[in-house]
Amino acid sequence: MNIQPERLVELNNLTIRFGANAQSGNATVDHVDFHLDKGEFVALVGESGSGKSLLAHALSGILSPAAEMKSDRFHFSGVDLSDPKSNKWHGIRGREIGVVFQNPRAALSPVRKVGKQIADVIAEHRFLRKQALKEAVLEALAAVRIPDPALRVDAYPHELSGGMCQRIMMAIALAGDPALLIADEATTGLDTTTQAAIVSLLRQQAEARHMACLFISHDLALAKDFAHRIIVMHAGQIVEEASVDRLFTSPRHPYSAALTKATPANAATVSELSGIPGGIPDLRRSVPACRFAGRCEFADTQCWTERPELAGPPDALVACWRPLS
Ligand SMILES: Nc1ncnc2c1ncn2[C@@H]1O[C@H](COP(=O)(O)OP(=O)(O)OP(=O)(O)O)[C@@H](O)[C@H]1O
Ligand SMILES: [Mg+2]
Repeated sequence: MNIQPERLVELNNLTIRFGANAQSGNATVDHVDFHLDKGEFVALVGESGSGKSLLAHALSGILSPAAEMKSDRFHFSGVDLSDPKSNKWHGIRGREIGVVFQNPRAALSPVRKVGKQIADVIAEHRFLRKQALKEAVLEALAAVRIPDPALRVDAYPHELSGGMCQRIMMAIALAGDPALLIADEATTGLDTTTQAAIVSLLRQQAEARHMACLFISHDLALAKDFAHRIIVMHAGQIVEEASVDRLFTSPRHPYSAALTKATPANAATVSELSGIPGGIPDLRRSVPACRFAGRCEFADTQCWTERPELAGPPDALVACWRPLS
């Protein structure tokens, strides 16, 4: 029997605009359809400025008030969240949806012991007596593989390595037992071994909790090793969405093909990639309907004038008039 995955997030036709682009009329995040199933581990990749963080902020209900967000549908666990000001966000933001960002040292208070910082968050979600709270903090530290939790609980962030601080941030994000964890460049800035250890831990926690994870990274190799599905964004548009195997063996969008081809052993990071001409178009000016057209060797008139929809079989969706396969 075929068991249908359970849908956690359903987002249709998401558009995010800023006043700065008012003249050109270009949306910074443009016609994005996005979904996540319960327990799914999805990587979101793309060059700097492609709108990954904006999408993450929209999903976690922390979009800047300067942004104008519209969607045809925004459902999380069946709850309609299309209005960012809706009080339905209470209890979901920071609880059902946890977020881990880059630079954990900046996010942690430098003057409060890490154990206390975790306890603060656990206490927001559950009422526990003093001893039970202490035990819950130790459990949270052990869950993110902090060695000697009983010793580290009294450490200040400056006494811990960057990788350890990121584990503390994960413990904080996991405290509400979220159904979705968004990790936005959570491993950037850490050394390669620590990066892999952190993503492996994320994946293991996601599996143990049946928690979905949106893993945003410049690092294609990490995405390849740990994700079930990969979403490729370019200039605010999703250009391809495929299973990891499909994306790396037979990418359909010329942009994804360039990303994966330019990586010997598919190991480089997006920002290090060569071979993709030009840069992300300036959205304050007029841009082609397919925003990759100006960088694409296969582009023709249709690419400049008509926006391609994301279409195809579920494990190989592509938004391209001239897909490679
Ligand atoms: N408050 C804002 N006002 C105007 N433009 C903004 C604002 N926030 C983001 N943008 C623009 O939105 C675009 C996408 O930004 P975003 O931070 O989502 O990119 P990203 O893919 O996360 O990049 P990176 O990989 O560098 O983190 C950028 O061009 C950025 O300048
Ligand atoms: Mg970002």
